[in-house]
Amino acid sequence: MSKSNNIILIGMMGTGKSTVADLLARELGYKLIDVDAAVEKEEGCTIPELFTGKGESYFRDAESRMLCSVLEKKSQVISTGGGVVLRSDNCDAMTKNGWIVALTADPAAIVQRVSGDDKRPLLAGNAEERIHTIMKERKDAYKFAHYTVDTTELSAAEVSRLILAHY
Ligand code: S3P
Repeated sequence: MSKSNNIILIGMMGTGKSTVADLLARELGYKLIDVDAAVEKEEGCTIPELFTGKGESYFRDAESRMLCSVLEKKSQVISTGGGVVLRSDNCDAMTKNGWIVALTADPAAIVQRVSGDDKRPLLAGNAEERIHTIMKERKDAYKFAHYTVDTTELSAAEVSRLILAHY
């Protein structure tokens, strides 16, 4: 595979995509793209504000548009939001334009990592219950990845090393 190929990280909230993407981008000298952060910058507000003010489907449209524009370039490490896979067009676009790595983790590890987090509107209320429900709903959604890493027992540096060894 050409080493300029984008590396695209997908996976549930709390699987470590942003941290691992940062390490990978530094190691490879690639541009780091965080799709959530890019949407926030473009919209001029945070994701919780976007969900509250304009609704989830508005956010999904903005997220999909941002993903497509980002995928026009190469040599990037792209960290996506956990729900980007909900639209099959996004999955097709990612498959055509990058090497896709899915990060997974046990539900208990995810609950621990996101506890006290107010940046994720989908976890409002009972976060633990929400995570279990969302994981069930998305059970097969990340399976199209070219490579999958279970991050439950690993540090971000270990995950990054594994990914680089398979790139
Ligand atoms: C979402 C995940 C979040 C963010 C939004 C929705 C989801 O990103 O895009 O809150 O649907 O799983 P992270 O996976 O980076 O937390």
